[in-house]
Amino acid sequence: MENKRDNFNSKLGIVAAAAGSAVGLGNIWKFPYITGRNGGGAFLIVYLICVICVAVPLVITEFALGRKTHANAMDTYKELAPNTKWYISGAIAIITAFVILAYYAIIAGWIFNYTLKSLTGQLMKVAPAELGNYFGGVISNPVSSLAWNALVLGITVGIVVAGVQNGIEKYTKVLMPLLFVLLIVLMVRSVTLPGASEGIKFLFKPDFSNLKGKSVLEALGHSFYSLSIAMGILITYGSYIKKDENIIQLSGQVAVADTVVALMAGTVIFPAVFAYGFEPDAGPTLIFQVLPAVFEAMPLGRLFSTLFFVLVGIAAITSTISLLEVVVAFVTENFKLDRKKAAIILGVLLFLLSIPSTLSFGAWSNVKIFGLGFFDLFDFVTSNICLPVVGILECIFVAHVWGVKNAISEMTSDGMYKFNLDGMYNVFIKFVAPVVILIIFLNSTNLLTPVVDFVRGFF
Ligand code: PHE
Repeated sequence: MENKRDNFNSKLGIVAAAAGSAVGLGNIWKFPYITGRNGGGAFLIVYLICVICVAVPLVITEFALGRKTHANAMDTYKELAPNTKWYISGAIAIITAFVILAYYAIIAGWIFNYTLKSLTGQLMKVAPAELGNYFGGVISNPVSSLAWNALVLGITVGIVVAGVQNGIEKYTKVLMPLLFVLLIVLMVRSVTLPGASEGIKFLFKPDFSNLKGKSVLEALGHSFYSLSIAMGILITYGSYIKKDENIIQLSGQVAVADTVVALMAGTVIFPAVFAYGFEPDAGPTLIFQVLPAVFEAMPLGRLFSTLFFVLVGIAAITSTISLLEVVVAFVTENFKLDRKKAAIILGVLLFLLSIPSTLSFGAWSNVKIFGLGFFDLFDFVTSNICLPVVGILECIFVAHVWGVKNAISEMTSDGMYKFNLDGMYNVFIKFVAPVVILIIFLNSTNLLTPVVDFVRGFF
């Protein structure tokens, strides 16, 4: 542990870095389509409640854990509960971040690839009906996929090597405002297209008939994913926050930025999709298979398509650096490796780990484990199993090991800042949060119905 720890140097730097992690592919492709599918405005109301009542308190909790100990996601537990096994919870979070990065970087690679294809005009030449096959060709080509993946990992490693202040903070402080400007430009373009108002209606008009019980669970799960909870990220970033910063306020700002970007992304995508008569419910492949056709139909489409993919690329990179930082912080503080060596070695390991996932779209598409290809398997295990497990352990740890009083004391910088909701926080961290996460877990592993039926059997 001989390395001197770095800190974030400014409030803006903390918010840019944490919002950079939060704003990612989830905001730009997932949030808009799940909102559209689940009743538009009705779903938005539920999502906002989930963010405010469940996700934000967890963001504050993770920042507090990290800042209390100024340690990486695993050593935080070791310091607060020495000689116990609690550190395993931190270790799972770190492994989760590593595995997520190994597939997230692949998607980011496709985005970079599409950015170049937009810029050169190549993407504009593909007929709309051919875009699906074209995308299939792109992702099943292992050499090009791995080359783009290597570029993404290279940029990520480069920024992380430069450090917290001179790397992560410096770059996110430029990239996040740039992302915002791009969003505004694209939003103006989209909502001024003839027929755009249908898209606005699709996104914002409350339709309660499409809001099901499942929608609530989807909103909850997405609020966790979107705010990068339970991956060690916020603990690690929290460990670089100085004692005199108000982490409650910072968490609120991060959540507002994340949600505003998600809404803006929806306002970019749907008005344009509707204006040109495309279907809004293409799901995950919307940005690769539908949006290029929308841009083709639009005046100056090549320009706007390029700006759009640059925007998504920025969102992805500010997320990949947060994932890598979790692992780099752990490695530099536990092994005799400096930041540079650690980041480079991890970059190489990540590249190797991403090979099976990449091949699962092509040559290895028949290799299945539990019925899933490597890419889907990594996604399923991390998102549906590891994240909720870490989330629940974290709540139990704060409630019963570290103690709610200590947590609140750290959240308020030992009373320097006011926090009037301590009673509510107590109930939240002891009961509400663990139960809610357990329900999400059961739902995403398809165990909810059997468990509910089992419990019903007693009544
Ligand atoms: N929060 C990011 C998003 O909305 C996703 C992410 C996941 C980022 C894991 C970092 C780590 O896309």
